[in-house]
Amino acid sequence: MTTIDMTGKRVLVTGGSRGIGRGIVDAFLAAGARRRERQPRRDHRRGPARSWSWRSCGRRAIVAAALAGLGGLDVLINNAGAGGATRLDKATEEDWDRVVDTNLKGAFFVTQAAAPALRQSKVCIVNIASVFGLIGVAGSSAYCASKAVVINMTRCHALELAPEVRVNAICPGGVDTDMLRALAVRIGGTVEAGYAMLSPDAAAQKRIAHVREIAGPALYLSSDLASFVTGSVYVVDGGETID
Ligand SMILES: NC(=O)c1ccc[n+]([C@@H]2O[C@H](COP(=O)([O-])OP(=O)(O)OC[C@H]3O[C@@H](n4cnc5c(N)ncnc54)[C@H](O)[C@@H]3O)[C@@H](O)[C@H]2O)c1
Repeated sequence: MTTIDMTGKRVLVTGGSRGIGRGIVDAFLAAGARRRERQPRRDHRRGPARSWSWRSCGRRAIVAAALAGLGGLDVLINNAGAGGATRLDKATEEDWDRVVDTNLKGAFFVTQAAAPALRQSKVCIVNIASVFGLIGVAGSSAYCASKAVVINMTRCHALELAPEVRVNAICPGGVDTDMLRALAVRIGGTVEAGYAMLSPDAAAQKRIAHVREIAGPALYLSSDLASFVTGSVYVVDGGETID
């Protein structure tokens, strides 16, 4: 059986502190990727940190810190993302800016900063988009629009960075994380009621995913098993968008 071996690979996962990003970090570490712990700047009693906030030090600085700490980069996972309602009758420009800045501009400018290092090591980028980038969802236009653009930006970057770098997108359906729990409460009043609405009987799998079910496809796309896969959009949604 073929197994995925990431021994020694240098991987940057944005938003890797929790949720899907954390699941991806754990999957890469289990496959042998290099662990780089870093002490937090202020409070050393909290133990090793594995993430940096780009609000505090900027996207370029995060990539520079990762490059300096790891000595290069083999894989970039653009995962950091923000949700939030943007109803037509209520949304402000600030609401739009927050979502677009995190989901879209974040992925673009982190990729821009990391691209030279990725070209050198000839590996890949995985953008975490969403099925909400493929379908319309009332009240979520900023989020849906940002993810739709991430999907098409993936194709643009696959052409722009070819042939050295492969660039692919994953479109998860509902995954049990803080982000989805917040959405579930917003639409259903409780997490359970919201999850029932988000995983309808019409979906093939009829359930919400665990983060490791997104981490697996991310690991595959980052590996040599996917050496001819670029510009692709992987829908990992338990059949939510089949019809
Ligand atoms: N959970 C789902 O159902 C689902 C479905 C489809 C796509 N996604 C996407 O998966 C990705 C991860 O989402 P999640 O569900 O794990 O959410 P989450 O809220 O649990 O985690 C989001 C991560 O992004 C980071 N982040 C948010 N805003 C940031 C900012 N401005 N700067 C830097 N980091 C920031 C957070 O610190 C956190 O680590 C997102 O891009 C999200 O849009 C999630």
